[in-house]
Amino acid sequence: MSLVKLSKINKTYQSGEVTFQALKNINLEVKKGEFIAIIGASGSGKSTLMNIIGLLDHPTDGLYELDSQNVSFLKEDSKAKLRNQKIGFVFQSFNLLPRTSALENVALPLIYAGVSKAERLLKAKEALKQVGLAEKSQSHPNQLSGGQQQRVAIARALVIQPDIFLADEPTGNLDTKSGEEIMRIFEQLHKEGKTIIMITHEMGIAKHAKRIIRLKDGEII
Ligand SMILES: Nc1ncnc2c1ncn2[C@@H]1O[C@H](COP(=O)(O)OP(=O)(O)O)[C@@H](O)[C@H]1O
Ligand SMILES: [Mg+2]
Repeated sequence: MSLVKLSKINKTYQSGEVTFQALKNINLEVKKGEFIAIIGASGSGKSTLMNIIGLLDHPTDGLYELDSQNVSFLKEDSKAKLRNQKIGFVFQSFNLLPRTSALENVALPLIYAGVSKAERLLKAKEALKQVGLAEKSQSHPNQLSGGQQQRVAIARALVIQPDIFLADEPTGNLDTKSGEEIMRIFEQLHKEGKTIIMITHEMGIAKHAKRIIRLKDGEII
């Protein structure tokens, strides 16, 4: 069954008189449990595509079905709700809260989900353990290496048990060794049956995925 189905998606940006078509006729199906990489040069539309899949942005036209539900025309609050339930984001820049422990960073999405404090801490501990950082739960982001910070960010995505992991250049700020560690975690998540869509411009990173999709000038080639 398709978890993500995009049909004839276009995205146009308008700035003043100038229109720019960032995505052109995108057709893409991602099945449950797939691990795919979207690769392309800078400016090819990767982040635009990820933001649409992640319900952070909407297409100009076309159909987006998420878990068989048409989400093309959803209102902002319904989108936000779906996003919190279904999608775990991992960004290039980690986006952790400073002056906040790893454990609290991981537990944060559970506040929005209305989970009790005791259960939040339990689940956050479990997620940190899954990324091999149980012993760093009290460390603040500035006490962690880049690779460790990204693992905390993955734990934060994991903790809500999302249907899809969306990662935009997750190794972009990391050295090769830390990047490989992050890929090992993604491979483990894939083995456990999670669905992963990862964006990268590095072929060496994309190769960890089971299917590679190439974007060029807003088109899948
Ligand atoms: N908000 C925006 N307004 C206008 N143009 C944009 C906007 N966001 C992205 N673009 C343009 O769309 C193209 C694709 O951008 P992006 O999806 O960020 O590419 P990538 O992630 O592959 O580097 C780029 O040419 C970029 O300048
Ligand atoms: Mg980008």
